[in-house]
Amino acid sequence: MLLELENVEAAYGQSRVLFGLSMNVGASEGVAVMGRNGMGKTTAMLAITGLNPPRSGSIRFAGERIDGLAPHRIARLGVALAPEGRRIFRNLTVRENLVMAAADRRGERDPWTLDRVLAFFPRLAERTSHGGGQLSGGEQQMLAIGRALMTNPRLLILDEATEGLAPIIRQDIWGRLRALREAGLAMIVIDKEVDSVEGLINRHFIVEKGVVVWSGDAQTLRENPNVRDRYLVL
Ligand SMILES: Nc1ncnc2c1ncn2[C@@H]1O[C@H](COP(=O)(O)OP(=O)(O)O)[C@@H](O)[C@H]1O
Ligand SMILES: [Mg+2]
Repeated sequence: MLLELENVEAAYGQSRVLFGLSMNVGASEGVAVMGRNGMGKTTAMLAITGLNPPRSGSIRFAGERIDGLAPHRIARLGVALAPEGRRIFRNLTVRENLVMAAADRRGERDPWTLDRVLAFFPRLAERTSHGGGQLSGGEQQMLAIGRALMTNPRLLILDEATEGLAPIIRQDIWGRLRALREAGLAMIVIDKEVDSVEGLINRHFIVEKGVVVWSGDAQTLRENPNVRDRYLVL
């Protein structure tokens, strides 16, 4: 497995949120993390990326323990997060937002460069000098994904990437993510509509109150509407 979480517990101060969450992602896999609001999905992603490190349990990436490492070290190993709410720098230009995320990957085969990201998201190429705050929601999301790609990830985590976007922009972004998956990039996707995206997700984990309550492949989830009714319908 590329990523393995075992019995991860996490909290904000005194408030415990994850109670022994275990999940994994294989190389080149597309994994969906699903569950109602407030169940701990984002908290799990913050634990993986070191932004809110786990209180106990273990997280391994490419065989190496990463729980306890600083966020920049986890990023350097190849874990990238396009965070919930996008969090781009509104006062920096598109180009600046991208360049500041660039990793030093000399010697890496086919690294992501500014030009490659701009070719991948042509809408951004037309707006390289615009401030992040001047972009539409969809463009901001493309920028958040582009910034994540600039670190040359082996695992890309997308937390509510299409939240609040118009359906046509959403489709556009799904199309780009599918291209990344087809190129073999492993992905964790948190999104309410992820099942509608053909060819993106092969396995699902459902989180409830800080633990995984169901996991299975995409076909099994499709064939078991009761799972959806039980854990996902509000
Ligand atoms: N920064 C924070 N401080 C305190 N509690 C938080 C913070 N962020 C999230 N929580 C709480 O942790 C729980 C899980 O939140 P979260 O991981 O964001 O859920 P999800 O992403 O599944 O919607 C919720 O009860 C939420 O209110
Ligand atoms: Mg969330």
